[in-house]
Amino acid sequence: MIDLIKVSKTYPPDVQALTDISLTILKGEIVYLTGMSGAGKTTLLRLISRMEKPSKGMVDVAGFDLAKLPQDKIHLLRRKIGMAHQDFKLLSDRTVSDNIAIAMEVLYTPRSTIERRVRDLLDLLDLSHKYATRTGELSRGEQQRVAIARAVANAPEIVLADEPTGNLDNETTARVMDLFHRLNRTGTTLLIATHDTTLYRAGKDRVIELRFGRLRPSEHTEAGVQVSDEKTSPPIIEEV
Ligand SMILES: Nc1ncnc2c1ncn2[C@@H]1O[C@H](COP(=O)(O)OP(=O)(O)O)[C@@H](O)[C@H]1O
Ligand SMILES: [Mg+2]
Repeated sequence: MIDLIKVSKTYPPDVQALTDISLTILKGEIVYLTGMSGAGKTTLLRLISRMEKPSKGMVDVAGFDLAKLPQDKIHLLRRKIGMAHQDFKLLSDRTVSDNIAIAMEVLYTPRSTIERRVRDLLDLLDLSHKYATRTGELSRGEQQRVAIARAVANAPEIVLADEPTGNLDNETTARVMDLFHRLNRTGTTLLIATHDTTLYRAGKDRVIELRFGRLRPSEHTEAGVQVSDEKTSPPIIEEV
């Protein structure tokens, strides 16, 4: 689903953000991308969503060779990807429901489906009471959840989540992880950038680590704390 071969990224004039990254992520995998601040996590996600171009190497996502993907075809790639940005990128003067609905409106999803999914997602993320609030008036933790809801609204083939729980408490983190696991069970591939070692499950999840822009297999998988994926919530994802 995601293939990188010897990818490097240099930001002008000479910031070497990523060096010689080769990585294959299969359809249906959940992969946790860890590493210190500045290690290159966000840059890697931005290369996969074609928000940045690599300086060297090949990036292949959902069957698209991104080097050969013309500007007027990028929407075909973006349709397959939902990205929750580290800095949210919400429309601050629009409501919570508008921000989530927009992702579906661009795909001409019927109004009734949009309405139902927005409500289900907000319920799942404990945000129903903010349905009509402008996102500029939300706390960072609330904005973060809206960004996640928007990213997953179309049940895309790939979800890229950049520090998705950075502003959340334990209970809300568990809700977000529950949502991600639900999506994953329906076949969505997830790449989750995080430095929270409690997100991944001991011995179960694939964890890769960036250090100063280079990839190395992580050794702290056993540090993970179990996050339940068996909690009950509305069957929003299974329906799709
Ligand atoms: N747009 C940019 N222009 C210049 N340097 C950047 C830009 N974005 C990121 N960097 C640099 O690239 C490196 C990796 O950054 P980033 O991918 O944001 O890491 P992380 O997400 O792991 O904190 C850092 O040294 C950062 O300062
Ligand atoms: Mg980052």
